[in-house]
Amino acid sequence: MAIREIILEGDPTLLKKSRPVKRFNDRLATLVDDMIETMCDSDGVGLAAPQVGVLRRLFVMDIGDEDDAIVFVNPEIIHKEGLQRGVEGCLSLPGLVGVVSRPLSVTVRAQDVEGDYFEKTFTGLSARCICHETDHLDGILYRRRSETVLCTREEFEEEEQRKRAERERAAQQDDSVKDDVTSPDDGTAILERETDEKGHHGVPENEVST
Ligand code: NI
Repeated sequence: MAIREIILEGDPTLLKKSRPVKRFNDRLATLVDDMIETMCDSDGVGLAAPQVGVLRRLFVMDIGDEDDAIVFVNPEIIHKEGLQRGVEGCLSLPGLVGVVSRPLSVTVRAQDVEGDYFEKTFTGLSARCICHETDHLDGILYRRRSETVLCTREEFEEEEQRKRAERERAAQQDDSVKDDVTSPDDGTAILERETDEKGHHGVPENEVST
């Protein structure tokens, strides 16, 4: 096993569509082993082949539960259900996060490293990860899906705090002066859309870098 170099945003490889895997041989097994090691080494929960420069349709996922890493070769999402909104990151865009809406659950049909087909339904973080990784196979980075301008985790937390404080202030003002709710638009409100719609949102504790 070996750690491979992760390609970063800006490299045109990440914007290309990957081709199906046809040969289930030792070379594929080595690639999968390397991808799992590379993902773990980077504390990611998922890694797609294009991220290590291989334009083939496969990715690995390990969301840190009791299960081992799962390999998805030639994956197809055959069913989607529900909606979840949460924070996402990507090993190819290190240090950044954004808010992305994804299906709450997905059913995937894929092959394992030996070529055997399996079909399984995933929910929550796994579903988010699978959507993110299949996007990679189609040359799509989550920047395109993000509802917020990508920023650092620290900036994100600061903004969250600022908004919380603002909401509390507004609620207090609401009680006393109904018509005088000020909401300064200083352009820094990166989560305005999301906050307006929901009032608040569930941000997972774990950073999801895939
Ligand atoms: Ni990614």
